[in-house]
Amino acid sequence: MHFAKLHTPSQIQLNQHGHLKHFVTIEGLSKETLTQILDTAETFINENNQLITSPVLEGKTVMNLFFENSTRTRTTFEAAAKRLSANVLNIDIARSSTSKGETLRDTLWNLQAMAADIFVVRHSSSGAAHFIAKDVCPTVAIINAGDGRHAHPTQAMLDMLTIRRETKKSFGELSVAIIGDIKHSRVARSDVAALQTLGCRDIRVIAPNTLLPYGFEEYGSEVRLFNNMDEGVKDCDVIMTLRIQNERIDSPALASQLEFHKMYGLNDARLALAKPDCIVMHPGPMNRGVEITSKIADGSQAVILNQVTNGIAVRMAVLALSMQGQLQEQGLIDSIAL
Ligand code: NCD
Repeated sequence: MHFAKLHTPSQIQLNQHGHLKHFVTIEGLSKETLTQILDTAETFINENNQLITSPVLEGKTVMNLFFENSTRTRTTFEAAAKRLSANVLNIDIARSSTSKGETLRDTLWNLQAMAADIFVVRHSSSGAAHFIAKDVCPTVAIINAGDGRHAHPTQAMLDMLTIRRETKKSFGELSVAIIGDIKHSRVARSDVAALQTLGCRDIRVIAPNTLLPYGFEEYGSEVRLFNNMDEGVKDCDVIMTLRIQNERIDSPALASQLEFHKMYGLNDARLALAKPDCIVMHPGPMNRGVEITSKIADGSQAVILNQVTNGIAVRMAVLALSMQGQLQEQGLIDSIAL
């Protein structure tokens, strides 16, 4: 799969007033739109760092459609929708009629007929969310919760919110390292795009060549490749570790997990090469002892559980913003920024 061919035109993501409608990918969205998502997410966190509730989506129906496994993403979307007073339906796809031969189109049209306002979609095929937003149910707001190895835009935004809150620096001042299975990771792809859009000028991708995507050279001059992890993490402010996406790998990309840990696992010696206040991130699920040691995962520099909490705030923001146009037309709100 080629990175450059997967861009989704921004037009399908924005309504005629330039407001977010669908959230399928980071690519094509402006710095202003990404900053609006972050700023809106911050309004859902109070001064004691607690999530607040708001009735902004009262009467709206959010359907969670997860065609692939998930713990954090599905649950935090549900928590986010409930905090906004929306009705939430979790569709059990494994038990739905798609397993009886119904097409995806028919399943979605039926769900749309049940008065869905927002579909949160996770699918193993790259491009699934785009296809649904453009060709199947364009009147329902589609939020991509991960499609194949293509994009995971809400994960990228919760990562950006965590970086902004934990480092207290502007994106232009930061050196960020992303380590591991870049080739199969929709998180890495969306994180690189979000960091670039928000103005980060030093993005280091640390991986063996076997775990780099085709078309990597097209990422842009702010993205540098390091095969050697010690060189890559030197003086970094942020380290993002990633799981090896074994379910998306057909032939062995690595000699073994042990070998990977030796070459690319985050341990104390390597973390000591980064800045003393460097934060350590992981989108989960984590494979302790492979991409990260347990000591670091549970240590004081890890912000992995902050990422989970920030995920609720970001998903509240994206759900609310995707309905902003409709709510404004109905005269129900002036703007989501409360
Ligand atoms: C990621 C995903 O599903 O892409 N996890 C997540 O959403 N928290 C990363 C992964 O599965 O490794």
